[in-house]
Amino acid sequence: MNRRSFMKMNTGLLTGVMVPGTVKKLFSNKTAEITVHPETVTGDISPNIYGQFIEHLGRAIYGGIYDEKGFRKDVLSKVQALHTPLMRYPGGTVTKIYHWKDGIGQNRPVRKNLIWGGNDNNHFGTDEFMEYSRLIGADPFLTVNMSTGTAEEAADWVEYCNGADTYYAGLRKQNGHEQPYKVKYWGLGNEEAAKEDAGTLQDPQDYIKKAWYYAKLMKLQDPEIALIMVGDKENWNKQILQELHPICDYISLHLYASTKPGDPASLFTSIAEMETNIRATAAQIKAFTPEKVTNFSKWYRFPARQQPVKIALDEWGIWEAGGEGAYGLEMKYNWNHALGVATFLNIFQRNADVIGLATWAQTVNVLAPIMTDATSSVCQTIFYPMELYRRLCGNRSIANEMSDTNNALDIATSINDKTGMITVAIVNRDSKDAIDVKINAKITGSWTAHELNAPSIDAVNTLKGPNVVDYKQRTVNSKNYTIAAHSIAILQARV
Ligand code: AHR
Repeated sequence: MNRRSFMKMNTGLLTGVMVPGTVKKLFSNKTAEITVHPETVTGDISPNIYGQFIEHLGRAIYGGIYDEKGFRKDVLSKVQALHTPLMRYPGGTVTKIYHWKDGIGQNRPVRKNLIWGGNDNNHFGTDEFMEYSRLIGADPFLTVNMSTGTAEEAADWVEYCNGADTYYAGLRKQNGHEQPYKVKYWGLGNEEAAKEDAGTLQDPQDYIKKAWYYAKLMKLQDPEIALIMVGDKENWNKQILQELHPICDYISLHLYASTKPGDPASLFTSIAEMETNIRATAAQIKAFTPEKVTNFSKWYRFPARQQPVKIALDEWGIWEAGGEGAYGLEMKYNWNHALGVATFLNIFQRNADVIGLATWAQTVNVLAPIMTDATSSVCQTIFYPMELYRRLCGNRSIANEMSDTNNALDIATSINDKTGMITVAIVNRDSKDAIDVKINAKITGSWTAHELNAPSIDAVNTLKGPNVVDYKQRTVNSKNYTIAAHSIAILQARV
């Protein structure tokens, strides 16, 4: 599903600020029960499910992460606090008109951004992106132009980034970057089925033919790279998987949830549909791709895919009507959206067996956890669950059972196989009532509860206002835990 299917933390650190607001009931008549089975691992959770995305779009890069003095320090510290392991660039839709050679070296042309409007002086390009990724500790993930670009141009980019001693590697060195960047993740195009965009490959067979050629030239430059192929609706995916599976490491899926006007709970229905979509794509992968590729001709001159095909949710997020800025993409996220983000992150953990990576669209100003004006920046509500999940959740998904007749809780359970710590991530989407939860798990000692909440589901963090998000940490010594209305709790204990 893509966009056509819908329609303060001020410092970068969790502060635990007490928030004035309506006092909610501390005790509840509502109950639920969760049983955790740490011995039953259901999938390895890829650290790359916590990725981010930046695009040459509106104020995402220029006026967001970068200004004419260089990287904005106030923004950089907030992006660093997100601890993202993976950063996707340069698009998005702009991929269809982006030529990477414009963004390197001393003389960079100013071009019209034909997709999103305005001019791009290309002061932020490949080397700046690599430096930014290094500063935030993320692996870079590049998308190549399959519409107005060529396979040779894409292969040259692989050479520029990963080559050692040939022409484009020499150019990288001349530009001051001696060591190869070792870029592993390469997306072949973006939403190529989207008719409205400047793409030329709306027929899956056109995409398949071209993707083979791109893959060949790019893999001949560096056989170690992983390829992300464009996914779309069922029929498109079937053909892509059947015909490209020997060289397709990931099939992409773009998921944007939204809220029906006046019905905040509808956001969770929309997000639930996303999980259905993920399972449907997983079923297609199972049906149309073998786990291992056999009989791959040696005349391709590079190895076939080595691991099972995984889903790349290389754009996911919440996209409501009525934002500001370019194409209404500057969104104000309230606390209900933060509950949505936590629900999404639970879904990714529950479906860890099939999700290889996920990059939230996007990072700064555009559909973003971080907003800026000319001199200051702020973390929106959605920043907080992103930061908390990345910091606390385990690397293996474990089984659980839940009975919740209120239909308000969403949970995911994981274990960190190095520390032996189990994590129960709970989102209470009930906007009015707390829920008393009985948690059955064989743990040593007590639970530590990390709790996030805000005065109401409508609460927002803005550049002008105080931080509305409250973080608390407390010890829970019994099996009974009360999760406050509209809150997120991550409970941890040792098994
Ligand atoms: O994230 C904004 C836009 O949404 C991306 O450019 C495009 O790929 C998607 O439709």
